[in-house]
Amino acid sequence: MLSLLMRRPHLKDLPPVPDGVDPAGPLDATALAHLLDAAFSTTWTPDRVRLELLDDPTVRATYLIRRGDRLVATASARVLPHRDPQAGWLHWVASHPALRGRGLGLAVTVAALHRFAADGLTSSALETDDHRLPAISAYLRLGFVPQYPTQTHQDRWSEIFRRLSLRRHAR
Ligand SMILES: CC(C)(COP(=O)(O)OP(=O)(O)OC[C@H]1O[C@@H](n2cnc3c(N)ncnc32)[C@H](O)[C@@H]1OP(=O)(O)O)[C@@H](O)C(=O)NCCC(=O)NCCS
Repeated sequence: MLSLLMRRPHLKDLPPVPDGVDPAGPLDATALAHLLDAAFSTTWTPDRVRLELLDDPTVRATYLIRRGDRLVATASARVLPHRDPQAGWLHWVASHPALRGRGLGLAVTVAALHRFAADGLTSSALETDDHRLPAISAYLRLGFVPQYPTQTHQDRWSEIFRRLSLRRHAR
């Protein structure tokens, strides 16, 4: 199934970057692999982190939040000029499963959006999946809107908004 697409149509009115968000460096590969491995169902190794993030020329920066010697959140700022030369793409956003609900994922995402604006890009885009309701909720809060390239995407978003709304009313 094709990924869902979301877009923030401009990079104005960004919230400030919270304290404690840092850019990653080469020494962070192992800790990043641990974090991404815990947050996603695919296997992450330090080599994969270097290949897909730290050494990937399309990735302008990877942002981190540290707690002691552990990493607890990350988001990467990527460019894909062949897909959209004016957009910055959010990439591999994650917070540690034990520390969800504190807006850590939001904080690193805001840092990536500021990077896009500083680089002169004018919008942001991302791909996500139907089951990632906490992520989608955070992206909506940051001003991202769904894209409907096909009728199927519209049907999938209809179900997502129904589930988000049910959750809101259950609280
Ligand atoms: C996406 C992610 C980084 C957000 O983590 P976080 O910053 O700690 O965010 P929170 O846990 O505070 O939740 C964000 C929102 O999701 C909501 N949420 C939490 N659990 C939810 C659920 N089961 N269903 C729907 N919404 C949910 C929260 O209420 C919050 O919404 P609000 O801002 O409107 O109150 C984290 O959930 C994560 O790492 N997920 C796994 C990896 C992933 O899916 N990454 C995104 C790839 S596109």
